[in-house]
Amino acid sequence: MSLQVDAARLTHELQVLATFSAAPAPAVTRVVFTEPDRAARAYVRSLCTAAGLSLREDAVGNLFARWAGEDPSLPAVCTGSHIDAIPNAGMYDGTVGVLGALEAIRALQATGLRPRRSIELLMFTSEEPTRFGIGCLGSRLLSGLTDAGAASRLRDRDGATLDDARQAAGFTGTVADVALPPGQYTAFVELHIEQGPLLEQRGIGLGLVTAIAAPASLRVTIDGEGGHAGAVLMPARRDAFLAGAEIALAVEAAARSTDAIDTVATTGVCHVFPGAVNSVPSRCELEVDVRDIDEGRRDAVLARVETACVDVAARRRVSVTTQVVNADPPARCDAAVVDALTASCVDAGFACEPMISRAYHDALFMSRVAPTGMLFIPCRAGVSHRPDEYAAPEDIARGVHVLALALARLAS
Ligand code: GLV
Ligand code: MN
Ligand code: MN
Ligand code: MN
Repeated sequence: MSLQVDAARLTHELQVLATFSAAPAPAVTRVVFTEPDRAARAYVRSLCTAAGLSLREDAVGNLFARWAGEDPSLPAVCTGSHIDAIPNAGMYDGTVGVLGALEAIRALQATGLRPRRSIELLMFTSEEPTRFGIGCLGSRLLSGLTDAGAASRLRDRDGATLDDARQAAGFTGTVADVALPPGQYTAFVELHIEQGPLLEQRGIGLGLVTAIAAPASLRVTIDGEGGHAGAVLMPARRDAFLAGAEIALAVEAAARSTDAIDTVATTGVCHVFPGAVNSVPSRCELEVDVRDIDEGRRDAVLARVETACVDVAARRRVSVTTQVVNADPPARCDAAVVDALTASCVDAGFACEPMISRAYHDALFMSRVAPTGMLFIPCRAGVSHRPDEYAAPEDIARGVHVLALALARLAS
């Protein structure tokens, strides 16, 4: 198959997509259902329509753009990723797997191929946990792992429910209908930047993911006693932030205690109330992220953090409550899909190597409902979730080329 990936067109589209942002360039901030997210969705829809794909959106805004195959009754081959971006992010996380998948479909269309199975681009809602505190919201609901009841209890920091937010963005359907029926897809493949340095360090252009590490997150709420920063004397204090600071250090110690390089833990959110320089913090809210490729070891870290919370609460005379937001199992990629990706690399003459994904992806949840694989491309110095995130057009084009070959193979 003589396949032409238009790297210049794709680069341009990635650049246009990056302009839909709440933060000034080069930073990208695109939180689900905010104005930049809605404008970015409209842009992606317009590109999919121009490519002749038929569009459908579900109640939470997952977008399905289908290139009908010769036999549309067969389970389709699915590919996709996300376009939402955490605060102060870059322009490649997720977007490469959405616009790259569209470019792969256009490149296949241009060869004159008519696939036997339909090929569907799936753009997932809210892969990032920024707004509702839970990652991979769209794919979780598609997989049925999270149900409509749990989704209806989600709220953002301003108190808006998921239903409020999705309906304001025009997604008014029934959340209970989002879960995919069994056998919808014969395969799912996600193209993504590595978000780590290994491919670049080894000089290898493509990584074939074999497993995705198990993520968990925890919300910790500490209630102490506020008061005047001048008048409340030190022995009388029950400072909620200082308790939170000790808990954050305990999170770090718990991750280090496993002595395993694969255990990581982060306290990435800390809200202090009332947040005034001359007021003793009365309340502190933390969000903690813990991951490991070994689920048992990850759970042991969570248990250690819970124990530390009990200890800090007693010593500092504050109340500490914890809520496990999610504790997901790791995913294994499907051998046949990994084989199809490997064969596509061989066909194209590109070197590749197997690897683990330490970041989570919508593929983690799609693996529950479809045989799943992931294709990684290098990103500069492994930097991600930062404005200086960068992937070279030639590396992106190589990933799109192999994705296209694999989609054609899986759809034949
Ligand atoms: C998703 O962006 C993750 O945190 O892995
Ligand atoms: Mn991300
Ligand atoms: Mn991502
Ligand atoms: Mn991610």
